[in-house]
Amino acid sequence: MDWPKQLIDKLEETSRLTEEEWVLLIENRSPETAKYLFEKARRWQQKYYGKRIYTRGLIEFTNYCRNDCYYCGIRRSNGNAKRYRLTKEQILECCQAGYGLGFRTFVFQGGEDGWFTQERLEEIVHAIRSGYPDCAITLSLGERPKESYRRLFEAGANRYLLRHETADEAHYGSLHPPELSAAHRKQCLWDLKEIGYQTGTGFMVGSPGQKASHLAKDMIFIRELEPHMVGIGPFVPHHDTPFAGEKGGTAELTVFLIGLLRVMMPKLLLPATTALGTIDAQGREKGVLAGANVVMPNLSPTCVRKKYELYDNKICTGDEAAECRGCLDRRMESIGYELVIDRGDYGGAP
Ligand code: SAM
Ligand code: FES
Repeated sequence: MDWPKQLIDKLEETSRLTEEEWVLLIENRSPETAKYLFEKARRWQQKYYGKRIYTRGLIEFTNYCRNDCYYCGIRRSNGNAKRYRLTKEQILECCQAGYGLGFRTFVFQGGEDGWFTQERLEEIVHAIRSGYPDCAITLSLGERPKESYRRLFEAGANRYLLRHETADEAHYGSLHPPELSAAHRKQCLWDLKEIGYQTGTGFMVGSPGQKASHLAKDMIFIRELEPHMVGIGPFVPHHDTPFAGEKGGTAELTVFLIGLLRVMMPKLLLPATTALGTIDAQGREKGVLAGANVVMPNLSPTCVRKKYELYDNKICTGDEAAECRGCLDRRMESIGYELVIDRGDYGGAP
């Protein structure tokens, strides 16, 4: 047997590779290795989750952001971004529509927007928790003090998504302004886990300057953190950012990494992301066939969809929530999987 397959076997057996082994495996991947990996990944995916794909309704509630990440279309320096905030009533309407469509997890994502004070956020979480006691509430609000995370948890939030973006401090520094650091972002993730959130991390694939050694560090950090979810998607350039002229990440490498994550930590919740569907018309299907088990269609009102433009050509910005769910239903069915009505907790069926 050839050595890349042996490394995949080692990963499956021990759940760990050294940094050098990760680099070798990633740099020397081939279609044949990928096929071997995806077969294993699907075996684990189906052991824990069957052919059931979890959905989360994504509500992008503000595109104001105090941060200035170089890759992001809604960074504060982008004067061309048309800014919006949803009201509490609009947010609750999204949940109502989503519930009717079968969503049992709502993901609230936004820029780091000071208008949404701690009190306002707690009020919103509280209202959703009382209105939808059978649903999971996921927050994705960026970096906040531990006390703020704790109070939001107490108000009823269950899960938090915060991608670490890249585990390498110097690479992190080349993607972000000096006031942001990989160390602080990682500390937030440890805080979230300690409080009791089901925690999601992740990174962009093919971000400017990314090397196999950075990806190796990402995999090692994820193994150490032991999150419940890992969201990875290709970097896609946005025309109004400093990275407008950079090359984007590929679907091929993204799905290979999804397969590696599934084999390394078989129970992970792994989304086939919108960014993956944006750069490849079959991206989300390929993601599922590589081991992903979650999709996150958009529930935001159609009038604001285009404005939450993190990268160019983002898909699904014109569709109603029901159309998005229907479209994903058909896509999953076409590859032998099904979207389910379920909170979609970590670990699958008991
Ligand atoms: N503010 C929150 C935070 O910092 O986690 C949530 C919003 S942020 C826009 C969500 C994710 O979008 C980021 O973690 C990043 O990985 C991703 N993202 C931003 N710009 C992107 C781009 N140009 N291509 C692909 N993904 C991007
Ligand atoms: Fe804040 Fe992108 S820079 S969400």
